[in-house]
Amino acid sequence: MAAQPLKCLVLGGDGVGPEVIAQAVRVLDWFRDVRGLPIALTEHPYGLSAWQTQGHILPAHTLQAVHDSDAILFGAIGGNYDGVPMQVRREGSVLRLRRELGLFANLRPVRHWPALDGAAPLRREVAGGADIALVRENTGGLYFGTPRGTETLPDGRKSAFNTQRYATDEIERVARFAFELARTRRNRLCSVDKSNVLETGVLWRETVTALHQREFADVALTHMLVDNCALQLVRAPTQFDVIVTDNMFGDILSDGAGAVSVSLGMLPSAALGALRADGRPAALYEPVHGSAPDIEGQGIANPIGAILSAALMLGHSAQLAAEAQLLERAVEAALDAGARTADIAAPGETPIGSVAMGDAILSALAALNSRA
Ligand code: IPM
Ligand code: MG
Repeated sequence: MAAQPLKCLVLGGDGVGPEVIAQAVRVLDWFRDVRGLPIALTEHPYGLSAWQTQGHILPAHTLQAVHDSDAILFGAIGGNYDGVPMQVRREGSVLRLRRELGLFANLRPVRHWPALDGAAPLRREVAGGADIALVRENTGGLYFGTPRGTETLPDGRKSAFNTQRYATDEIERVARFAFELARTRRNRLCSVDKSNVLETGVLWRETVTALHQREFADVALTHMLVDNCALQLVRAPTQFDVIVTDNMFGDILSDGAGAVSVSLGMLPSAALGALRADGRPAALYEPVHGSAPDIEGQGIANPIGAILSAALMLGHSAQLAAEAQLLERAVEAALDAGARTADIAAPGETPIGSVAMGDAILSALAALNSRA
């Protein structure tokens, strides 16, 4: 095990965030107590509960902890923010965290789970074996471009506008991350853009192509237009290894790709930045699903997206690939044994709650550990 303990900040956030993160924390506690993982977890308020009690979504001491930590495990924010001024919302948003920490690469792995075929929207012949690493540019593009705003035109109509803007270095660093990732996998990268219409798409394609020629000629590079990619992800997902795309397209395609994993509740993510002096990237790990206020407090949310986000933390921040694999195998074993939350239950299967799913994964871990 690595010598330096990992300072992990836990931010449950809003909606089902705290419920799913609680299960991921149990799993990380297990790795600490049973496998000797050097990790120190601290929890801070973030989101609506922080607004209600402290008047800030992201209180100063939480922000301080964000900067002091090695890795953040984050649930979700979102829900009923009526009455919270837009400015306060922006200041506290996860977009701000991504940007402030320079988390330019958002890794969203999507894979087929054979045990879930009964509930799957895609046939096994289509999705079987699919294993995709979608890399979304995370700190630029339409989400952050300026000018942006809403104005009233002289004739009284309202008009709103955003700016899509990318510079070559922003494209290069996320593409470099994706090329390097491809080298650790099946050595294929598909770069996705809208170069038939957008200048940003033309620059995207040119920049990725030039970087490929300069530094990554050994990786098989292809290009795809984003609309076609949306179709290919559900028509023939096994054609992909690593995908790299811009912020907005990555947001949309990663939800769409969720069909391969049956439910958005299964999807983890890692938002990663440049390597720091200790060799670890700045990092924030979060399930892709969001706050799901409609099922908040019912104890039925699928914690697997959060638990697999903890697995990404084991791999990328703790840099213990074997531990990350062990956790993924435990999730697989729990699913093979029939554990299902409501979102992944096939007709006739009895769903269990978030805590019971945590239990199932912890027993699978214990079983795998005693066999090793
Ligand atoms: C995601 C989410 C966020 C995004 C929202 C909640 C701001 O949809 O992480 O995919 O658009 O990035
Ligand atoms: Mg999204």
